[in-house]
Amino acid sequence: MLEGALVRIRAVEQGDLPTFVKWINDPEVTTYLQFEPPMSMEDEVVWYHHMTAGKDKAFSIETRDGRLIGNIGMIGLDWRNRKTDLGIMIGEKDLWSRGYGTDAITVLLGYLFDELGLERVGLYADVGNHRAIRCYEKCGFVREGVVRHHRFKDGRYVDSVLMSILRQDWDERRKRAP
Ligand SMILES: CC(C)(COP(=O)(O)OP(=O)(O)OC[C@H]1O[C@@H](n2cnc3c(N)ncnc32)[C@H](O)[C@@H]1OP(=O)(O)O)[C@@H](O)C(=O)NCCC(=O)NCCS
Repeated sequence: MLEGALVRIRAVEQGDLPTFVKWINDPEVTTYLQFEPPMSMEDEVVWYHHMTAGKDKAFSIETRDGRLIGNIGMIGLDWRNRKTDLGIMIGEKDLWSRGYGTDAITVLLGYLFDELGLERVGLYADVGNHRAIRCYEKCGFVREGVVRHHRFKDGRYVDSVLMSILRQDWDERRKRAP
């Protein structure tokens, strides 16, 4: 269990999966995510087994009083090059823009840099996903560039912003933190 100011990050339990299915079938939640809905409980169980063994690893995000609100994880953990991509979804829409994403990412970054000793954490965000981009910048991610036509969504190509945070950025932030 990893503790932040607002959230806890814990292992995904099978009992979380029905809530995840609800979120990933909500087009508002998945507007900026790569899902191919409709997704069934069977699809979610396959995802669960994939995300608990191998190069991808998911965790559940809950509030400090135990409300399941999202998930976060590593995508494509690359030990040879000491890097991973990061993915996050706060599925409870009433909690968007209230700092939960920033807190969860900050907690996970602490684990990735300080415990696992990674060098780089990267991610892609759709150029129109302003909330996510702002959230990532608050966590210390910097923009590296725009990947043109990175995704095909709703009948059109969408550009993505490539962002990353390096160990040196993380260490600098830690030094500056009160
Ligand atoms: C993206 C996501 C993880 C961010 O988590 P969150 O808890 O909502 O984000 P936070 O509150 O920590 O930070 C969001 C910031 O963006 C700001 N913001 C919100 N809407 C915005 C907009 N349209 N334009 C610019 N900034 C915006 C918020 O005000 C906040 O900044 P502030 O603290 O300086 O005021 C969450 O909203 C989510 O899961 N969305 C759906 C799935 C998704 O898009 N995942 C990411 C895919 S790359």
